[in-house]
Amino acid sequence: TQIQIGAARIDKGGYKHFMAKEIAEQPGVIGSALDHYLSDAGIEMPGLDFAVCDRLVMVACGTASYACMVAKYWFEQLAGLPVEVDIASEFRYREPPLSPASWSVFVSQSGETADTLAALRYTKEKVAKVVSVVNVSTSSIARESDVALPILAGVEVSVASTKGFTCQLTVLALMALKAAVDRGRMDADQLAAHLAHLRNLPGLMNHALLLGNDVARIAADLAEAQDILFLGRGPMYPLALEGALKLKEISYIHAEGYASGELKHGPIALIDQHVPVVVLAPRDALYEKTVSNMQEVMARHGKVLLISDAEGVHEAGAGVWRSLTLPRIEPWLAPVLYALPAQMLAYHTAIAKGTDVDQPRNLAKSVTVE
Ligand code: G6P
Repeated sequence: TQIQIGAARIDKGGYKHFMAKEIAEQPGVIGSALDHYLSDAGIEMPGLDFAVCDRLVMVACGTASYACMVAKYWFEQLAGLPVEVDIASEFRYREPPLSPASWSVFVSQSGETADTLAALRYTKEKVAKVVSVVNVSTSSIARESDVALPILAGVEVSVASTKGFTCQLTVLALMALKAAVDRGRMDADQLAAHLAHLRNLPGLMNHALLLGNDVARIAADLAEAQDILFLGRGPMYPLALEGALKLKEISYIHAEGYASGELKHGPIALIDQHVPVVVLAPRDALYEKTVSNMQEVMARHGKVLLISDAEGVHEAGAGVWRSLTLPRIEPWLAPVLYALPAQMLAYHTAIAKGTDVDQPRNLAKSVTVE
């Protein structure tokens, strides 16, 4: 199949689905996005001096809103910059008061999502700067922003966003690093170290993509489940939300993401031997806490799928139902790498269920009406 988008003719390039192709493209497009924004002088984002901004208000829908939630951890921890995140449909009608020294940031793959565009228009004249992070540079959201940062993912056809999400995260990570430098929170050596970690991402992602067959075997079992939980802490919490969203979008299995620490405030009541629980646990400062939540699940006979690095799986993997081993990664960047197994789980579970992966029922790629 070929589809025509603008002047471009897009085909599946030998893959069965656009989603599979777009998952596989991630190391390449992230490398290009890094090339675009990095020079010998550092991070090139003209028009963005974060020293003069007191707060970011980030607004988006769906997968893009989870990218914003990850970025909140980054801006706050790396740059000491307070961030509010809202979904656009709530933000626009709540009409929140905004500080005139704040910036609004809109993240949208299509750049045409009606609620996000309306939210952008609401913030104009009320904030110091309107910034957007978009894939389609000619879109309404890009045109109506003071500064539009392209994510350079290339055309994304699959309704379920994959490379769009990780490219959004990459650009947001660069913004957070620039904010840290502009606000005097990071010196040149620290920046160089962080940029080196970002540069490692495509290589690490190539390793993650090799897990395809393992993921497919696990997915064959997940396809039998009625409910699946995803758990994570810190910046892995929004990734748990994204993993659950991806799975429900294309496999139609009920899935929920939770912050691991919230488990005992409700969702633990759901756990029995029929409920798979995907635990996103890179070895970061919160690893031990996540593992203890995982053990609470196992004590109630939940089927734990542990996703961690080799040491993490070695340390905590005894007795889990299944595990997936990723390469070790700098903790703050883990959401970008761990997005890949989350996407692959959704993809292979949908394949096992025989659903229409690229065109899931009731969903549209771009929601330009309310
Ligand atoms: C739709 C798509 C989602 C996407 C959301 C926001 O619901 O199906 O994949 O995350 O819109 O789209 P945007 O283009 O604004 O990122």
